[in-house]
This record gives sequence, C-alpha cells and structure tokens, in this order.
Amino acid sequence: MSTHNVWTHKGTFLLAAVGSAVGLGNLWRFPYLTGENGGGAFILVYALTIFAVGIPILIAETMLGRNSRRSPIMGMRHLTVTHRTSRAWESIGWLGATSAFLILSFYSVIAGWALHYTWQMLTGSLAGADAETIGAGFDALLASPGLLTLYHTLFIIASGLIVGMGIHKGIESSLRIMMPSLFVILLVVLAYGIANGDFGAAASFLFTFNIADLSLEGWLQAMGQSFFTLSLGMGAIMAYGAYMSSEASLTRTAIAIAIVDTAVAMVAGLAIFSLVFGADLAPGQGPGLMFVTLPLAFAEMPFGALIGGVFFILVLGAAISSSISLIEPVAAYLVERFDLTRPQAVFAMVVASWALGLLTVVSFNLWAEGSLFHALFGRSAFDFIELLTNIFMPLGGLLIALFAGWALTPSEVMKEMRTSETWFTAWRFLVRFVAPAAVSFVFLRTIPQVDGYLIPTIGALVIVGAFAAGRTFLTESSQEQ
Ligand code: PFF
Repeated sequence: MSTHNVWTHKGTFLLAAVGSAVGLGNLWRFPYLTGENGGGAFILVYALTIFAVGIPILIAETMLGRNSRRSPIMGMRHLTVTHRTSRAWESIGWLGATSAFLILSFYSVIAGWALHYTWQMLTGSLAGADAETIGAGFDALLASPGLLTLYHTLFIIASGLIVGMGIHKGIESSLRIMMPSLFVILLVVLAYGIANGDFGAAASFLFTFNIADLSLEGWLQAMGQSFFTLSLGMGAIMAYGAYMSSEASLTRTAIAIAIVDTAVAMVAGLAIFSLVFGADLAPGQGPGLMFVTLPLAFAEMPFGALIGGVFFILVLGAAISSSISLIEPVAAYLVERFDLTRPQAVFAMVVASWALGLLTVVSFNLWAEGSLFHALFGRSAFDFIELLTNIFMPLGGLLIALFAGWALTPSEVMKEMRTSETWFTAWRFLVRFVAPAAVSFVFLRTIPQVDGYLIPTIGALVIVGAFAAGRTFLTESSQEQ
C-alpha cells in the first residue's frame, strides 16, 4: 500500500531535508573534526566531497523516494518490480531502516547531553566555573547511568511525539517553527562570538589552507562526515522524498540542501572557534569541544550563561529535527507493511530504539573500559553500534549510487529529473563512477577496525551487492534483446 501523502507545499521537502541534514553533525562533529585535522585543508576536502559525491547521491536518494512514493523498504521493493531489476536491491531499504534505528539509539543519548547543558546554563550553575570543575561536571554526567537515561528518554519521547502526530501536523508544523528559530539563534551566537571572542583567529584557523596538516585519516574523515551531515544512505532522505511534490526540482533542491547544510557548519565553526580562541582555549579537544571547552568559554564571558543556554537550545532543536527523520522511515514502513496506526508504529520504533540506546548509556559507565563487556568485545557497545553505522552508511550510499546509475535506465531517470542534457550527463557520470569509487575508499577505511566476527557480515553484504548488480545487468541486457 502506498502512503500517497505529499507535503503541503512545494518547498516543504527542502525544509524537512535541511532539518534532517542540520544536526549534531554540523554543530558538534564538524567543528571538532576540523579542530583535530588542522582546519582549512580539511574543509576543502569536505566541500569537494559534498559537491562531487554528496549532491549526486542526495539527488539519487530523493529520486528513489519520490518515484516510489513509499517508505524506503516498500519503496525499493516496488522499484525493483516496476523497473524489473533484481529483488536484491531491496537491501537498500533494509540497510537504510536498520541504520536509522541504530543511529537514533545513540543520537538520542548524545542529544540528551545537550539537554543537560541547556539546563545547567540557564540555571547559571556553570557561571564563573573553572576548567577543572567543568571537566569534572562532564565526567560526572557520563558516569551517571540514571541521568543519561533520563535525558535520553526525554529526548526520544519529544521526537516520537512529533512524528506520531503525522507528517503534516507533527513534522511539517514543528519544522516550520523550529528551523527559522534555529537560524536566528545561530546568527545571535555568531554575533556574540564576533563581539566577545576572537573572530580573526577563528577565520584564519578555518580557512587557512595547509595541505600538510591533513593526514590520510583526515581525508577519510572528511568524506565520512559529508555523508553523515547530509543524512545520506539511511533512508531518511528517501522517506521524506516520498512526500516530495512532483513539481519541485530534484537538482536545485539537492544543491540548496547541500549549500545550507555547509553554510550552517561553517557559521557554527566560526562562532564556536571565535569563543574558544577568545577564551584562549585549545581547538583540538575532540568530542569534548562542545561539552567542555565551549561551556568553559561561556563561563568566562559576559551574559555567557544566557547565550550558552540559547546555544544549547539550538543544539537540541537541530538534533530533534534530525532525529525525527530517523524515526520516519521505520515508522512509515510499519504503517505500510503491518497496517499499524502511525502512533502505534512510532511507539514500536521509539521503544525499541530507546532500549538499544541503553547500551550506549552504559558504555560510558557500567560497561566502560575495564568492564567485562569491554574485556570480551574489545570495545564499548556504543563504539560497536557506531562502527556498524559507519559501515552501513557508506554501503547504503554506494548501493543507491549503483542502483540509480546502473540499474535504472537513463530514460526513466531523465523523466524524473527533468533537467538539461548536460546536467544529466554530469550527474550520471558522478553516480556511476566517481561516487562509487569515493565511497568504496571511505568504506575500506573502516575495515581495519573491524574484528574477525564482523568480516563475514561485511563479506555477505558485499556478495549480496555484487549479486544484485550482476542480476541487474543480466535482466537489463536480456530486456534489451
Ligand atoms: N545529518 C544529521 C547531522 O548532521 O547531525 C545526522 C543524521 C540525521 C544522519 C538523519 C542520518 C540521518 F538519517
């Protein structure tokens, strides 16, 4: 059964996709990765990947959603029938839904930290605190399974309520209020950073190009980040694409999403590093940049508690608008496949993902380094789940590029894209050759991290992919005869 739902306006898909794309990836991950990888050179690679790989796959993923008008799993099943390709391509939908489920479980825990800091900032409990106190506060938060579970629960309930209210009343209406407010807050924080911090140092740090600063690992991280930040390969964009108006342009929309997402990451980076350099702190603090370095900068600045509180509200809002896009693909599938009502479907997805999130919660305390789990598996459950998503995400992107570039016939794609011959040819070249090559490169990076028991899983996935591709070629060539 098709959902047949369409967003209220032609531009709503853009709003929803930007909501999905702009999230912890822009505000938390991008600045700290740039900080760790020497700034400008990292940004150049990141921007190149966004344009050469991210945008073409974004177009492809949206197209698959819009063409099928179904949730990713049912949609891929439908496309394999209507386009007479191998059913193995349905794995794109399954991979997407599985990744969305896995990512939501830990995304919600980390977003919960922002809830804690919003509270701490607004109550002024960090005002004037020194580095030691703030560092100890973060450690204490991570050491408390109870607190982490509380925040995780609150965050996931809020996200579930929005999706449960439906795509119009829930997702659309909340995004329509949330997204403009987030942009205003971002600009306020930037203005505050310029006034109170060291904007010059931030700009030269972000934009000074020094290729020697960029290691191979940095290159790969930049490419991985461009996938994560555009929400690619996880069914989110495909699920939203299913509701996209047939009149909206795929190419223009995808370019707009990428530009806004990149601009937000840059502005967030400028604002954050202005504050960090203004307070004479180090930029390369890794994941603690947002939760330790930044609260410290706010603690030392005039009106820091207020602006800090507002900043963490921004982080929360950006995270919610992304997490709802992780619930949608699975919830829509449950509605289509099992005829559940939307609230029932959302409830099932959220409860299961919440329970899995408890593994991330205990990864920072009860099952952290030194625990039996760690000793048995050599890593925390959180690292394990993140590693799985780091494999599934590029794999999903790779399969999407291959399906759109090789399995669909050019005339069908041309009909959906309705663009000029030149654009179409450029896009097709990118999804057929450039994107698969680049993604395989990112994908291979994760292999050395993978333990023995995961290799069979990946091997199986690769075989399924190859099988799907082979069957497709056979089907295609037999059709042509
Ligand atoms: N793009 C989001 C971010 O940058 O935080 C993360 C994300 C959301 C990834 C939704 C994947 C997804 F399906």
